[in-house]
Amino acid sequence: MDFQDTIEFLTKFRWVYDFPLTFFIGLRVWEQMPHEVEADRCSTYVPKSTYVPRSSRDPQPSKAAFPLHVLQWLDVLTKASIKELNNIPFGKFSPEWPMTLKDFITQVVSLPINRDLSLNLESIELKSSHKKGMSPKKIHEVSFMSGVVHKLCVKNKCVDVIDVGSGLVRIHWKYRRLCSMEFQGYLSIALSEQFGYNMLGLESVQSRSHGASDRASTHSSAFSAVEFELADTEESHASFSELIRSHSAKNNWCMMGLHCCGDLTPTMLRVFVQSPNIRCLAVLSCCYHRMSYTQFPMSEKLQKDMSAGQWAASTFALRLAAQETRTRWQNQNYDQHEYHSKNVAFRSLVELSGLKLDKRHRKIARPSHFTSFEVYLDNLLQRTKLPEEDVDCCRNILQDLYKQHEECLSYVEPFTCLQVAIQPVLESLIIQDRLMFLREQPGIYAEVVPIFDENISPRNLAILAWKEAM
Ligand SMILES: C[S@@+](CC[C@H](N)C(=O)[O-])C[C@H]1O[C@@H](n2cnc3c(N)ncnc32)[C@H](O)[C@@H]1O
Repeated sequence: MDFQDTIEFLTKFRWVYDFPLTFFIGLRVWEQMPHEVEADRCSTYVPKSTYVPRSSRDPQPSKAAFPLHVLQWLDVLTKASIKELNNIPFGKFSPEWPMTLKDFITQVVSLPINRDLSLNLESIELKSSHKKGMSPKKIHEVSFMSGVVHKLCVKNKCVDVIDVGSGLVRIHWKYRRLCSMEFQGYLSIALSEQFGYNMLGLESVQSRSHGASDRASTHSSAFSAVEFELADTEESHASFSELIRSHSAKNNWCMMGLHCCGDLTPTMLRVFVQSPNIRCLAVLSCCYHRMSYTQFPMSEKLQKDMSAGQWAASTFALRLAAQETRTRWQNQNYDQHEYHSKNVAFRSLVELSGLKLDKRHRKIARPSHFTSFEVYLDNLLQRTKLPEEDVDCCRNILQDLYKQHEECLSYVEPFTCLQVAIQPVLESLIIQDRLMFLREQPGIYAEVVPIFDENISPRNLAILAWKEAM
C-alpha cells in the first residue's frame, strides 16, 4: 500500500478542504482555484463566455480572449449544469475543461478504496420481532453486519462476541435503587437469537430511565450489557481482559463495533492486537474528527509518508472525511443545491459581519427561512434577541454585505462539489492507515470490505481482521 500519491494530492489540494465553511466568503476561497499556463489553455480550453471564433484576420487567440483566466476552474464549474456537477465526483468531465481540473477529477476516483457493496456477502433475514423499532437503515446494517460477523466467527471458531459501543445503556431505578439495566443492542440480539452467540455489549454511556422498557424482556437472547469505557491505557486493557475472562472461560472471542466514533476504533484495534483471546475483529467507524491527534496516523508507514510529505490532517480534513459520500450528492436536485448554497453563503455573511451567535442560535434557521436573505435576516434578528437599538444597525450591515457578495452564492456549489469529490480520498486514507497498522503486526491478517450499500449507510467500509491459527 502506497500513501505517497494520496499525500501529494492532498497537499496540492489543501485549499479545497482546509478551512471552516463559515469563512467561505471571508477567506474568498474560490480565488484559490487554479488557472492554467497559457500554452495549455490555448490548446485545451477556451471559456465559453468569452469564446472568440478564429478567423483568417485573427488566426491566433488574443489575450482578450481569456479575460477570466484567473478564475478558470470557477468559470467552468459555475457554468456546469447540475447533472455535470453531480457527476464530477464520479470521474465525469467534459473534454474541453482545463487539464488541471480533469487531472483532479481523475485522481479523486482513482485514489480511494472502492465502496460498492461487496457481492459475496450474505445478509440475514431478520425476524419481524427484531425489526420492531428499527429504521430501514438499521435493518440494512444489522442484516449485513450479522452475516459478516457470523462468517468471521465460523472461520475463527468463536462463540463469544463482544459488541463495543453497543448502544445506549438504560438503567431503571425504583425508589432510588438500581432495578434493572438493558441496552439497545440490535446487532447483539440478532447475533444471539439467530446464531446462538454469547453476546457481551460494552457501552460507556448510561441514560437513566424510570419507565420500563420492553425491548430486553421481549427477547430471551444470551446477551449481557456492561457499562465500560474502553480506553487506550494499561489499566483499561487489564480491566477489559478481566471482564472477558469473567464472562467466558473459553478463549476465542470476536470483537465487533458498528459506528465506532472518535477514538473508539483505534482503541479497539490496539486492544485486539494486544489481547490473545480476541481472535477476530469487525469494525466500522464514524466521526473521525472526534479522534485525538495521537490516534492518526496509526501505522508506521503512513507516519513516515506524512512526515516526508509534510502533510498533517487538520480537524477540517477529518470532518470532511466523516461527511456524506458522493452518492447522495449525485441525486441532488436544483432546490437542494440552492438551499445548500444559501445556507453556506448566509451563514458565511453572518460570520463576516462579526455578529456573534451563541450556541443556541447557531442552528436557528429552518429551510423555510432561506426563501430570501430578507426572510433569513428577519428570523435571525428576531431570535438573537439583540437590543432594539442594535437590530437596525445589524440589519444594515448584513444587507450591505449581501449586496457586496451576492455573486458568491453561485460559487458555493462548485466548491462543495470539489469537497464532495475529495471526501472519499480523505476517508480512504484514514481507513487504509488502520488497515496498514494491523498488517504491520505479526500474525494478523486484515482487509477492508464495503459491507453496506453506500446509499443507505455512507460509512460502509468495514475493517475485518483475524489472527493466525494457534
Ligand atoms: C455512534 S454510537 C453506535 C451505537 C451502536 N453500535 C449502533 O450502531 O447503533 C457509538 C456508541 O459507542 C459508545 N462509545 C464511544 N466510545 C466508547 C468507549 N471508549 N467505550 C465504550 N463505548 C463507547 C458511545 O457511547 C455510543 O453509544
